[in-house]
Amino acid sequence: MSVKDDVMQKVVSLCKRRGFVFQSSEIYGGLKSAYDYGPLGVELKRNLMNLWWREMVHSREDVVGLDASIMMHPRVWQASGHLAGFSDPLVDCLICKERFRADKAPRKSNGEALVLTYADKDRAKTAATWLEQNQPELTFDRQGKEIHGISASNRGYVCPVCSSPFLSTERQFNLMFRSHIGPVDPIGSLAQNIAAGDFNGLSPEEIRQKLDQVTKEGAIYLRPETAQAMFVQFDNIMTSMSMKVPFGIAQMGKSFRNEITTEHFIFRSCEFEQMEMEFFCEPGTDDQWMQYWVEKRMGWWKKWANYPEKFVARAHEPEELAHYAKACFDIEYEYPWGFGELEGIANRTDYDLKKHAEYSNKKLSYFDQANNKRYVPYVIEPAAGATRGVLVYLLDAYCEETLENGETRTVMKFHPQLSPIKVAVLPLVKKDGMPEKARSLVDAFFKRGISASLDVQQSIGHRYRRHDEIGTPWCLTIDGQTMEDQTITIRDRDTMAQKRISIDAAIEEIERLLRESWG
Ligand code: GAP
Repeated sequence: MSVKDDVMQKVVSLCKRRGFVFQSSEIYGGLKSAYDYGPLGVELKRNLMNLWWREMVHSREDVVGLDASIMMHPRVWQASGHLAGFSDPLVDCLICKERFRADKAPRKSNGEALVLTYADKDRAKTAATWLEQNQPELTFDRQGKEIHGISASNRGYVCPVCSSPFLSTERQFNLMFRSHIGPVDPIGSLAQNIAAGDFNGLSPEEIRQKLDQVTKEGAIYLRPETAQAMFVQFDNIMTSMSMKVPFGIAQMGKSFRNEITTEHFIFRSCEFEQMEMEFFCEPGTDDQWMQYWVEKRMGWWKKWANYPEKFVARAHEPEELAHYAKACFDIEYEYPWGFGELEGIANRTDYDLKKHAEYSNKKLSYFDQANNKRYVPYVIEPAAGATRGVLVYLLDAYCEETLENGETRTVMKFHPQLSPIKVAVLPLVKKDGMPEKARSLVDAFFKRGISASLDVQQSIGHRYRRHDEIGTPWCLTIDGQTMEDQTITIRDRDTMAQKRISIDAAIEEIERLLRESWG
């Protein structure tokens, strides 16, 4: 295992051990690609999303918020192009049956020698039998779990699991989750069609088309991005809030994609959260705004990180651009497996407003009174992953330190604004009035809206380690001296330095430290 894989595994295991993230439905064997955010994970995620909202909405007058429903009219997805085009190329390995994305598969050029590798000898024998039966002209050599002597085909890629070049044809697989709304029963209708013999004599493709027709009635889709509602509600928001271009609409919340390849824990899952903003500006000013938002968003991600150098902005090559985009920058982070996307900032031009105007027959444009002209605004869209951001800050915070006594301590060095618990109050022993004093101090923190925790279990050393591991920036300890002179110790998570302060100054001190952490 490489050191980098090791870090990922350690973070995943800490997430479960300390209540940040659990596999969904774990007691039933788990649901692949869905995760539950535990008591500390939900706080971390909310802190991150609240910081985004504060930056994008509460700190400026030109951006307003929206919380739209996840289910939208099916015409939205026709207009946006998601029904026709939001798909991945799907392929099956004919030998090991793995289903995967062609565009993400390992690249191999035509004629390159391959080593087909299986989990055990029995599986390799089954693969060899398949080759004998289906590719009788080939000569190959099975050595234990491996098969040698096969070369890559002109497909340009191989199965990501066993390296086989024997693959099904590519099919386009739509990533939207489909369900039904209202009292429609597509299965019942299909049963009637079949009983009436409506499908007799049809080719598989014709049957598929008929099935699509029947199931389309009442079909509804879980949104695959939060963006579209902001285009659809553009006019309502502009009119009701008297917004003048340039202005933005921000939304954060759940999105759903039936991802073929889910990977790297919460990096890519089927249910995830996004933080997106559509910034409407006058055509011609779009390049300037693009530059503005790339700088602004980069600064925001770096602000909460211990290692800001791990964030980079990468301009898309022309061939990478989505069909609607004039330009796009990805904010990438250096994950343990390499650089990958965290946020995309796209110049979507007037594409979306024009499409929705065309499909809805409603005017979606802006009248500039000062200059007496009407135009369809261009849109700059900073689109960030909230759950992916949680992974980034978990990785950024993870730290192991060797102490003077040779022991290792694990510390989650979260920025205090991200930490799930801001302050822990620890009575040294469970007697002599210490727990009661700690209780009233924690209650006082609650009254000030500061997330605090009263922790009385185990030795003080264990408690410090526990709070280091969940990233609590400050621990306040109530000891024998407190009962005499009303002072407590305050311990800093990162330096482990301790000093005594008056118990009466504790809340002010934590408020001051939190204020200063804004930088
Ligand atoms: N409206 C544009 C849009 O949705 P995107 O690049 O598909 O753009 C934006 O998504 C961000 O959402 C990504 O940069 C990523 O952080 C996050 N994201 C996308 N798919 C995801 C998935 N399956 N799991 C977790 N996060 C995802």
